[in-house]
Amino acid sequence: GPRFGTVVAVDGPAAAGKTTTCLALAKTFGLRYLESGRTYRIIAFEALQREIPVDNAPEITGLCDELIEQSRSTSLLTSERYASAELRKKPVNVAVSAVARIADVRQRVTSLIRLWATTHEHCVVEGRDIGTAIFPRAAVKFYLTATPEVRAMRRVRQERAESYENVLEDVIRRDDADMSRKASPLVPAADAITIDTSELTVEQVLHRMSSTCRSRGLEI
Ligand code: DC
Repeated sequence: GPRFGTVVAVDGPAAAGKTTTCLALAKTFGLRYLESGRTYRIIAFEALQREIPVDNAPEITGLCDELIEQSRSTSLLTSERYASAELRKKPVNVAVSAVARIADVRQRVTSLIRLWATTHEHCVVEGRDIGTAIFPRAAVKFYLTATPEVRAMRRVRQERAESYENVLEDVIRRDDADMSRKASPLVPAADAITIDTSELTVEQVLHRMSSTCRSRGLEI
């Protein structure tokens, strides 16, 4: 099979602090960073634009193939044609769960991510199934979590766009969808290090993650 370099896998529910900590880890250890949720969001966004029902698996899979072909393979993962703010709006938040449930879409995104990883020696990848399905042999696996209330509160402080109640509702709905779907549901990998960040600062979380990375042989 393909040869991967060092992969740090970071999974966990929505708004657990994955992006913030992954970006910091990437900087500290010189890793390439990939936010896998962005790809599912791009597909959901395009489906909404084209008015394709997100629960129509064959049509969404076709759309996925078209987007991959258009952007010439792995560049869909890092495409800058899409503004992050646009991809984080409510309609996309709602549609993305349905898109991420489609096994044929997951299989395509998985292939893209693995292909991307073969072109980078060291990387940190965040998502829901990175340590379980995409890189089961990752060098280090983290599962970041926090109570839904803490996660919703952090997101409200960060984005200030929506009310706490709305954000909490979205967080709980997406947790449920991500954990209950049949195709690679969100679960901690057996060998993942779980960090409950509810009562920790970003610095404390980063300290734990960095120490683990160092003890597994990653060098600053
Ligand atoms: O990380 P995020 O909140 O941007 O992810 C958006 C959605 O995409 C998430 O609710 C489920 C899906 N997703 C997934 O199924 N698998 C991944 N590896 C990453 C995201």
